[in-house]
Amino acid sequence: MCGIIGYCGHRPAVPVILEGLRRLEYRGYDSAGVAFLQQGALHVVRAEGKLANLERRLGEQNVFLATSGIGHTRWATHGLPVEKNAHPHTDAARRLAVIHNGIIENFQEIKNGLQACGCVFASDTDTEVLAHLLASFMDQGLGIEKALSRTLDRVEGTYALVVVCLDEPGVLYAARKSSPLVLGVGVGENFLASDIPAFLPYTRDVVFLEDGEMVRIDAASWRVMDAATLAPVDKDVRRITWDVAAAQKGGYKHFMLKEIFEQPKVIADCMAGRVDVAAGRAILPELAALPRPERLFIVACGTSFHAGLWGMYVLERWAGVPTRVEIASEFRYRDPILLPGDVVVAISQSGETADTLAGVRLARERGAKVIGLCNVVGSSLARESDVVFYTQAGPEISVASTKAMCSQLTALTLLAVHLGEVGGRMSRQDRMDCLHGLCRLPGILEAELPGMRERACLLAKAHSEATSFLYLGRGPYYPLALEGALKLKEISYIHAEGYAAGEMKHGPIALIDPRFPTFALAPVDELFPKVKSNLEEVQARGGRIIALTNPGGDLRVDDVWEVPRSFGPLSAFLMLPALQLFAYEMADYLGKDVDQPRNLAKSVTVE
Ligand code: G6P
Repeated sequence: MCGIIGYCGHRPAVPVILEGLRRLEYRGYDSAGVAFLQQGALHVVRAEGKLANLERRLGEQNVFLATSGIGHTRWATHGLPVEKNAHPHTDAARRLAVIHNGIIENFQEIKNGLQACGCVFASDTDTEVLAHLLASFMDQGLGIEKALSRTLDRVEGTYALVVVCLDEPGVLYAARKSSPLVLGVGVGENFLASDIPAFLPYTRDVVFLEDGEMVRIDAASWRVMDAATLAPVDKDVRRITWDVAAAQKGGYKHFMLKEIFEQPKVIADCMAGRVDVAAGRAILPELAALPRPERLFIVACGTSFHAGLWGMYVLERWAGVPTRVEIASEFRYRDPILLPGDVVVAISQSGETADTLAGVRLARERGAKVIGLCNVVGSSLARESDVVFYTQAGPEISVASTKAMCSQLTALTLLAVHLGEVGGRMSRQDRMDCLHGLCRLPGILEAELPGMRERACLLAKAHSEATSFLYLGRGPYYPLALEGALKLKEISYIHAEGYAAGEMKHGPIALIDPRFPTFALAPVDELFPKVKSNLEEVQARGGRIIALTNPGGDLRVDDVWEVPRSFGPLSAFLMLPALQLFAYEMADYLGKDVDQPRNLAKSVTVE
């Protein structure tokens, strides 16, 4: 949700910033802008629409002299996605420029006060108040550090922000509160960004900034301080393990396709060091500090919520722990009853989703322990949870989440096996079978993916005229039906509804006709006969059906799509990529922007 980058170093800053913005574009892409100091003046260049528009505009100017600057790619919250609302925003005298990710909640009140003093605003954004307020404190004679501290004291809301100012050329100031900001430490250059891939070609040494911290960087040094007191704060520099290749397309047409094909590795990476098949044991030392939960609450948004819903089936079946799954934006305002012994599992790829983090804070206030299941190392969720379980999926760039869900399912399987052992609910043989099934998945999936893609491509073309789809599934495949529908909506803009197959007759069946296809999840398991009956009901009304199933299921529908069977609900690992590939091929065939679908953002750091 908005990407920000700042650079101070020895290279021409604008190309470095643009490259960083390109890597952050998944966070927002309705407008973009840069600010830099050159020949004693502050230059701000902005453009509506995708980054390419900004690049075109910059191409018309000489921008190679500046060696420091800031850049922003926007996902609109306040104000239309037009040029005047694009960041950076400046004060009236153009002494400084600010980029911001987050929401200043009391911006109207501050704006009214500033306007009463004659301040003229150029945009409809909340961010612009930061520029004017900061300048007003500097006009009173304060240096940037103190003025920024005073500014942050006045604003309410969330922010990761970076400031460039004529008073201190070659220096950037930044601060964070509830929006991500990392510092990249290079040699003769330093970076600030919303996310590590922005500066990954230059350094793998990072400092994770905490809420309430401010940072000053120049080419040769960096300094973190407490935003309120300006007292220095000691920080560790951490070396991240993945490299630039992990954040590039690697020959694939889209990041989404690459990430779907990475899933065999993702399962293996998530399991690495955590599985002892012979002992039937999931090794989760992270959980040693927690007592066995009496009840679990899984809290998440979007695709992570669907992973959580699937997790409920395995946690109840294998671990025997009563589990409830909640959409984070509902949980946080629901006044949930949390009892001693309850544990909240917060699932988030980015670890920055505002609603999920609010759910975590609420749970902790009410005395519950929190397990944070997240992908991004050092994210807010990782910092705010009692226990962190990293899913090890590597950077996920495509806005539509794919491999992250696969890694979340892997982590939830390990959690279920672990709790199943601790609670004595799952026999050693079942644990061994389950872990053996999990270990075989990467190999099976690797072999299956190319064929799946071909099938997905043919089916997508054959159904490309459809304007609506119904996705049906039962038991652990109901969450997959929701996810299949979500993927199709997100990237192809075809309306799709995910439904519990048994619930279809209570409403959606009225929609069925030959132009409204059904995509069914019909694994050959104990619920197969029930799903089969539901599909007969669809056929009786002239509905066309694609059915994802396993060999031996004898389904007679328009398109039978068989994938191998695995241990119990683990067949989900082989069905999920088929759903993802169908959505991908549909969107690609229809010429949609697969990696950056309209109106969406990868990391939703606002409510
Ligand atoms: C956004 C993304 C989704 C993602 C959801 C939750 O809506 O577009 O792909 O599933 O946020 O994100 P999280 O990072 O918390 O898993």
